[in-house]
Amino acid sequence: MTPQNATKAADPSLSLYHLLEPSVLADPYPLYRRLRTEDPVHWDPFLHKWVLTRYADVVFALQRFSAKCAPTPEQLDMMGMGVLSPAAQVMVKQMLFMDPPAHTRIRGLAAKAFTPRRVEVLREHIEDIVDGMLDEVAAKGSMEVIADLAAPLPATVTGELLGVPRADRDQLKAWSADFAELLGNFQLNPDRVPRVLRSIEALLSYFHDAVRRDRENPHDGLIHALVTAEIDGDRLTDEEIVTNTIVTMVGGQETTTNLIATGLLTLFRHPDQLDRLRDDLSLIPSAVEELLRYEAPSQQTTRIAPEDVELGGKLIHKGESCLVVMGAANRDPERFPDPDRLDLTRPDNRHVAFGWAGHFCFGAPLGRVEGQIAFRKIFQRFPDLQLGPGPITWRNNLGLRGLNALSVVL
Ligand code: HEM
Repeated sequence: MTPQNATKAADPSLSLYHLLEPSVLADPYPLYRRLRTEDPVHWDPFLHKWVLTRYADVVFALQRFSAKCAPTPEQLDMMGMGVLSPAAQVMVKQMLFMDPPAHTRIRGLAAKAFTPRRVEVLREHIEDIVDGMLDEVAAKGSMEVIADLAAPLPATVTGELLGVPRADRDQLKAWSADFAELLGNFQLNPDRVPRVLRSIEALLSYFHDAVRRDRENPHDGLIHALVTAEIDGDRLTDEEIVTNTIVTMVGGQETTTNLIATGLLTLFRHPDQLDRLRDDLSLIPSAVEELLRYEAPSQQTTRIAPEDVELGGKLIHKGESCLVVMGAANRDPERFPDPDRLDLTRPDNRHVAFGWAGHFCFGAPLGRVEGQIAFRKIFQRFPDLQLGPGPITWRNNLGLRGLNALSVVL
């Protein structure tokens, strides 16, 4: 087939820039459906990127394309955004933005530290942490899901995982939220740049100190495990430990918050499914997978074509950037029958909410455990939980899909 993109002409109404409109942000799925059916391998001239929305193409790109999409300081200078260079210098050292063999090395060493046993040990803590948070909610008599549970839970769990003092966790959460702005958005609001840069500097300094302290006085936790992780004499440098601790901390917070809060809203919007779940809490593991598919907390990621590739009749040139939209792939009817229907017992639910292949979410077992425990405890403690009053508004981050707040009535 001859590639059809000689001019790369495109329909402006298909641009993902429409996510900046509140109504599209609130429900991006009609736009994704149009993209998938009208132009599944779409050149977006406004973003200057390809946009992939079919499940098969998303999986193909996640398997084959390059993840080295963090801009180099030189590229940023050329774009007049040299001020972001310190952020780019952190990103290029994070596993999320690496290809093999560098990625395989870092991820292998990190996996030595972040073992299934570590998640199992955390499981009991998570039960206790959620119980404590729901005790406070019960005493108060009201609940704002994000502030009372969905945000502090992953912040606390990540703090336990890393082995950092409790007193530091709120600060770390605030810095992580600033860093996350770099991950989810098409472009950074210039007003936010100084604050994001300050937070990155603070994170670097905090974790360099933590590594130094751990070498002097070892303390159980992921930081210590990363300091000591070794494969055939190879170890992580301090820079590698610090930058990858940051990506692990940031990766585990917003996403898990959004799984819990958006997941709960989705259940309220599907009362038949909610009733099924309340009647049979053993459905929770399968329900969490369906909620991840239905409203992926991480809606998209970026990949670069490693060579000229023909996909869906279009020629993607070597070095061109692709937005890989997991949120759209998860609703592809060619992969998921009746994809816009929430079905908590959906069989064969291999969604791409955690990505695919080499960069498949490093913390997926932990994210799943946190989500499962949170939903189970919420419905055990408050079986009559109802959606509360107040408008539903979505956060401005276009890639990390989540609510600003969610009030419920106990
Ligand atoms: C519901 C919760 C979560 C969701 C939806 C999620 C989603 C994702 C996705 C989609 C990717 C792949 C990105 C890409 O290929 O470009 C990813 C990677 C990653 N995630 Fe998660 N994540 C979650 C929880 C966590 C947790 C709890 C942690 C850490 C404790 C974590 C740490 C990471 C790291 C370090 C990577 C990079 C892996 C690599 O590049 O090899 N995530 N996550």
